[in-house]
Amino acid sequence: MKDITITTQFSVFDSVQELPNDVQNLMEQAITVRKNAYAPYSQFRVGAALLLDNGKVVLGSNQENAAYPSGLCAERVAIFQAGSIYPEAKIVLMAITAASDTNTTKAPIPPCGSCRQSIAEYEIKQDTPIEIYFMGEIGAIYKSESLKNLLPFMFDKKFL
Ligand code: THU
Repeated sequence: MKDITITTQFSVFDSVQELPNDVQNLMEQAITVRKNAYAPYSQFRVGAALLLDNGKVVLGSNQENAAYPSGLCAERVAIFQAGSIYPEAKIVLMAITAASDTNTTKAPIPPCGSCRQSIAEYEIKQDTPIEIYFMGEIGAIYKSESLKNLLPFMFDKKFL
């Protein structure tokens, strides 16, 4: 028997103002689109903004459904939209923010497991890393250089 250790790394920014200008701009768009979330069941609003290598920005917010699993997270709304409209473009940056209508989220809110798996598919397809920044409503922003930090040991097409 032997152990293996997998390390992942994140950078921490204390505020939106501390982000590089292009990322700050993207996070502000994520904050704006977060308000468009359709979240009558969870009152939890998530906004995602993608910057593509063609310069386009694609936005998404979570869209819920009375049949709960039929809803979709903000991150997947955004990446599926990007894949649909700009199938050849690479995703360079992703900014995510989440806020509750009932309390103030201070901790950085990471993408859920299903969104990580979906983002992984696009990172592998485009063969370049996607930088991911995520935050709550206020407080610190975590940055990952690649989806790989959020999903070590990922399942992908090489196993098929
Ligand atoms: N949600 C997202 O939009 N992204 C995530 O990564 C986590 C969860 C949404 C789904 C649902 O509408 C609400 O947040 C509560 O789970």
